[in-house]
Amino acid sequence: MTTTIQSSTLAVPPPKAIPSHVAIIMDGNGRWANQRFLPRVAGHSKGVDTVKTIVQECASYGIKYLTLFAFSTENWRRPSHEVTFLMRLFFKVLKLQVSLIHKNNVKLVIVGDLSAFPEPIRKNAAQAQQLTENNTGLVLTIAANYGGRWDILNAMRLAYENNPDILPENMTEEWLSPYLSMSYAPEPDLFIRTGGEQRVSNFLIWQLAYTEMYYTPIFWPDFDQQAFADALTWYRFRERRFGQTGHQLLESQIVKNA
Ligand code: IPE
Ligand code: IPE
Ligand code: MG
Repeated sequence: MTTTIQSSTLAVPPPKAIPSHVAIIMDGNGRWANQRFLPRVAGHSKGVDTVKTIVQECASYGIKYLTLFAFSTENWRRPSHEVTFLMRLFFKVLKLQVSLIHKNNVKLVIVGDLSAFPEPIRKNAAQAQQLTENNTGLVLTIAANYGGRWDILNAMRLAYENNPDILPENMTEEWLSPYLSMSYAPEPDLFIRTGGEQRVSNFLIWQLAYTEMYYTPIFWPDFDQQAFADALTWYRFRERRFGQTGHQLLESQIVKNA
């Protein structure tokens, strides 16, 4: 996959009204189910409908990249029956939805350490990615068995393997970032976390350096078109300074519009 060289810490990205990349922590499935006296896993099943809605919304807004956190490296700590349910659901969704994804010109990418997953899931994941790899529409990334720390350490290992004679002073951002699992995408402009918690939970910790962080109490199964539109409206009114002053931002806009 080709590398997109874009780093918010090396250069100030251009302002945009609609984010190019939205990254979401889909949280609150268990509590959504608990509120209805349903088993937690019923919330995970219902959450799949929200995934479909938000994928469609992103495509219609012209958002190029959508990244969804489906399973973290820490989610293995959950009761084994819930982990098994999530695996099966992932398998089922991959199998049943891939043709629809393909039909809609969506390119599917799965990031994370898939080696921990059962063989049928790995096979399905590989097939789904292969089938959709030349699609030119929305790039939908699913983070599964993903952890931000895993990503950085993995990148360090790969970078070192490729260049074992490197001197410490040559270990730069540009040297490391092509090995990060999402090097094909620009950094997220907008992060959304549903379910009310205000934390990153080991998601894209490198890539979120200058991302706008939006938290909503709405549980993921209830997060709908309107809720997504509200997040985009909130984003539009952010002043993204990237370390500069507000005055500098204004000046650069005046120069650009002159
Ligand atoms: C998010 O919902 C889904 C996964 C982590 C897989 P949760 O299952 O974390 O739901 P809550 O936070 O317990 O309500
Ligand atoms: C983050 O949600 C992981 C996913 C949504 C896949 P969690 O529910 O696991 O996060 P914590 O445990 O509340 O931080
Ligand atoms: Mg949760």
